Amino acid sequence: MLRALYPGSFDPITNGHLDVVARAARLFDEVIVAVAHNDSKQALFSIEERVELLRESTAHLKNVQVTSFEGLLVDFARAQQARAVIRGLRAVSDFEFEFQMALMNRSLEPELEALFLMPCEEYSYISSRMVKEVARLGGAVSRFVPECVEAALSARFGTKSH
Ligand code: PNS
Repeated sequence: MLRALYPGSFDPITNGHLDVVARAARLFDEVIVAVAHNDSKQALFSIEERVELLRESTAHLKNVQVTSFEGLLVDFARAQQARAVIRGLRAVSDFEFEFQMALMNRSLEPELEALFLMPCEEYSYISSRMVKEVARLGGAVSRFVPECVEAALSARFGTKSH
């Protein structure tokens, strides 16, 4: 049973994240998407809201589970008996942070492998941060996020879905 963990803030999930989840789900028997509690980041959606949006967006992927975690990623990965941590790489600019994080995690837990997947190029410029800004300013985000996320953003910002 090969299990992978896909951690992140997912505030909110985008089509880029979803593309990475789908790719990981084809490679592993089970994928756990895990929303990290991170006090240093001011989030738009609560952990529970993000988990719910992820669940709705990944409902069609039968070997994908969604949860949240607190504390160190490597501890959670060990508790879940995950063999690999999945992260998406959109562009070279993502690489430095991801490289540092992967090596830090490896020094904490040498058995845990980091695996980087590239989302489809049409999603390579999408980020949760930009999607939130576009939605906040009344722009259309339907091409960037699942429908449930578009609705949640409209509700949060009091704008209408396009
Ligand atoms: O989507 P993000 O914000 O880039 O995800 C970052 C995340 C949640 C993967 C990272 O911050 C993390 O693993 N947090 C858990 C705490 C931890 O283990 N920190 C040490 C790893 S450098």
